[in-house]
Amino acid sequence: MRIHHQPYHTIWLSEAHKVQVIDQRLLPHRFEVKQLADTSSVVTAIADMVVRGAPLIGVTAAFGMYLASKEALQNNDPKAYLQLAAQQLRSARPTAVNLAWAVDQLESILMKLPPASWPERALELAEQLKADDIGYSEAMGENGLPLIEALTQQHPNRAINILTHCNAGWLATIDWGTATAPIYKAHRKGIPVHVWVDETRPRNQGASLTAFELGQEGVPHTVIADNTGGHLMQHGMVDLVIVGTDRTTATGDVANKIGTYLKALAAFDNQVPFYVAAPSSSIDFQLQDGLSEIPIETRDANEVKWIQGWDGDRLTKVLLTPEDSPAVNYGFDVTPARLVTGLITERGICTASEAGLRGLFPERFPND
Ligand code: MRU
Repeated sequence: MRIHHQPYHTIWLSEAHKVQVIDQRLLPHRFEVKQLADTSSVVTAIADMVVRGAPLIGVTAAFGMYLASKEALQNNDPKAYLQLAAQQLRSARPTAVNLAWAVDQLESILMKLPPASWPERALELAEQLKADDIGYSEAMGENGLPLIEALTQQHPNRAINILTHCNAGWLATIDWGTATAPIYKAHRKGIPVHVWVDETRPRNQGASLTAFELGQEGVPHTVIADNTGGHLMQHGMVDLVIVGTDRTTATGDVANKIGTYLKALAAFDNQVPFYVAAPSSSIDFQLQDGLSEIPIETRDANEVKWIQGWDGDRLTKVLLTPEDSPAVNYGFDVTPARLVTGLITERGICTASEAGLRGLFPERFPND
């Protein structure tokens, strides 16, 4: 997708084999590329949300394993070094399963090889995960497009109104996004769409990132305060909700950015279809019950108490609350499968249920 008319991915390797990412903490006000030189800078970039979004976190961690495999060769015990680096990467953020999914894959493959071969193989694997992610996003775009096309049959004379939460756009992946992929496909096909963008407190990924990337692609959109969605749905102003996911269980429970559950409740009450774009890399086929089994990240309370913005000259932070009021910052919530109309995956759309996922991903379930 494009920034200032130039096509970009969210992560790439420079000619000198340095890992480059877009510093997402500064968007939409400043566009800066940041170099991640070693494993610890990758861990920090994930934890501080220089990069964020489940698929991008996974691919970034894979490039972190590439850097770790080079560092390991300078160490007396390369295997112990790589295992420790894998552990540090895995624990940078807890909720998105893509992180462990990517690190585990590289770790298990590299551990079977002689250390001298690790950097070359790790780089191949990281590039492969990156390419796969682009493929998943494009496929989810194609699979989700008919949902929007069907709505144009019902409403031929107006734009289709789609509500999304947080940033499940291309900035959260490598390209296309998850929830936004069907929207970009529809827009490029000339189907009139309009996106309601939840601001997504406390870090405002909707207001800053989703609004930015939709604007750069020329997709009509309107930013709304987080509490607005229910009102819009009651007044027939939302035709479809599409959100992303950080971890979806084998039974279809969906963890996504805090506030997603409330949107699902409002959609259910107003018979608005509520879809979740879920690449297989975000599905945790080991888990059965989202509420009790998905770890929910709790972040620094200062992200709730302070807000970042542009004062016309520079990025600045201001305090919103009384200085000594306590705050709490849960990063994600779980939407039970019963509130989800369907999962849009790279293999097609299914119900948010074990039967639905089993139909599309039979190899991920034990034979019984
Ligand atoms: O805290 P973030 O910005 O990493 O949270 C991102 C989300 O919740 C996205 O909706 C999710 O990762 C799906 S991204 C395609």
